[in-house]
Amino acid sequence: MSNSHNQLLYIETVGCQMNVLDSELVVAALREGGYELTESMYDADTVLFNTCSVREHAEHKIYSQLGRLKYSKRKRPDKVIGVFGCMAQKDQELIFQRAPHVDMVVGTGQLAEIPRLVSEARRDRNKALAVSLARTGGSRDEVVSSFESYDPLRDPTMRPSPFQAYVRIMIGCDKFCTYCVVPTTRGPEQSRPPSQILTEVGVLAGQGVREVTLLGQTVNSYSHVEDGRTFRLADVLELIHDTEGIERIKFVTNFPRDMDARLLEAVRDLPKVGRYLHVPAQSGSDTVLERMKRGYTVGEYREMMSRINEIIPGCAVSSDFIVGFCGETDEDFEASRRLVEECRFKNSFIFKYSPRSGTKADERLVDDVPEAVKRERNARLLDVQTAICEEDNAEFIGLTADVLVEGPSKMALKQMKQQPAVTPHPVPGVELSEDAAAEVVSLETPGSAGTDVTSDPVSGPIQLVGRTDCDRIVVFDGNPRLAGSLATISVDDCTATTLIGRIVTREVQHAAVVELPVV
Ligand code: 5AD
Ligand code: SF4
Repeated sequence: MSNSHNQLLYIETVGCQMNVLDSELVVAALREGGYELTESMYDADTVLFNTCSVREHAEHKIYSQLGRLKYSKRKRPDKVIGVFGCMAQKDQELIFQRAPHVDMVVGTGQLAEIPRLVSEARRDRNKALAVSLARTGGSRDEVVSSFESYDPLRDPTMRPSPFQAYVRIMIGCDKFCTYCVVPTTRGPEQSRPPSQILTEVGVLAGQGVREVTLLGQTVNSYSHVEDGRTFRLADVLELIHDTEGIERIKFVTNFPRDMDARLLEAVRDLPKVGRYLHVPAQSGSDTVLERMKRGYTVGEYREMMSRINEIIPGCAVSSDFIVGFCGETDEDFEASRRLVEECRFKNSFIFKYSPRSGTKADERLVDDVPEAVKRERNARLLDVQTAICEEDNAEFIGLTADVLVEGPSKMALKQMKQQPAVTPHPVPGVELSEDAAAEVVSLETPGSAGTDVTSDPVSGPIQLVGRTDCDRIVVFDGNPRLAGSLATISVDDCTATTLIGRIVTREVQHAAVVELPVV
């Protein structure tokens, strides 16, 4: 990869945080080989799509992007087009059939191969398929090693913000919920050794990271045996807690059945761990949960909620719901609605059931809820959740909140884009698809609150965004240099998604709340 021509890289990422992290690592490896990012897939010498298969919509989006590149590839046959991630693992050769101009298809377990495959594709013009074994394609050990975990170099400039980083602590999933492709696309559950996680967090802190989010498909199922001792997530939290420089620790996504008291006590007792848990319920109906093979009843989910509220008072909980799953009746849906009302989630991500090939639900159950009904249930559940968000956010008005400042809000970034002198962080060339972002953060749109950015983004205050330790989004005006620090915000107003406030500081001598002069 020494040729200075052929070195512009465009990468587009859809899907979950795991994909965002994978893209960070792939870009870091390619940059080592001399690649530079570009914002245009048409100008790029190499175009990579990091894909998601959880719902059909995310796949459509990629195929339509690939379609747009057909003529560009004809004009420049040396352009390398690669598809990696979950869709690559799931669809394999089908991708070459549907988009013959694709050069390489690389599964979630082969990401380390990408730099070599890109060079070979350019040199030999051969198609490359690198994927892991199917779950039934060998012994467990063989399948596990074919999904080799990939956590090499970190590239600080590829992060959503320089102060925040994802750390993978486990990969794969063994839960096999009947609707879900993840156990196929991400392979068997494997937990990383705690010592590796600690080292990585230390390196990140040294690079200026203040907040780490530990990632796993079922992060609280983490289990690693070393020298006869079993380490669970609570042990990992304790281990990394005292890392100098790290101010806040989060972890996603949790599985309800594995939310044990020991983990909750660790969250309560470790001050850097945010009081926020994402624990998808998926449905409020026992019959639907049974058909989904989630392994718990609604009663057990309620018990878990009581345990959370008892051990960590004030802890925010968010959830995922699927509406219109096979056989979901009006009564089943009503039960989901009741569960949302009862649990008062901080937010819920709500999805219409999307049948996925290779899953048990697709093979054995009938997708019998009409699209219009799915859409209507989706909108109704979202309305219930939105009303709760508005009510709960309003409770914060008049209070102060400690916020870890992330940087300019979406609105400020938009304004900066119109002023070319300023380079906003998210780096160019890494596109988190709008659709995917909308799916991933369905109820959370930082900066959508409508307050004005008050002055020049270089020298004066702009609208910043941060989160409380309960993961509530807060916007306020301040100097961009506050990014990465903790600030106290007095909350004046809110929307369903966002608290709106001003920076305050306490004058110790007079105990009066005064506004910070913004430098
Ligand atoms: N259809 C719709 N939503 C799905 N999810 C997973 N599989 C499907 C599917 N086939 C949702 C679940 C999960 C979230 C990441 O995506 O709610 O928690
Ligand atoms: Fe999919 Fe269920 Fe595993 Fe979550 S726990 S990744 S929904 S199989």
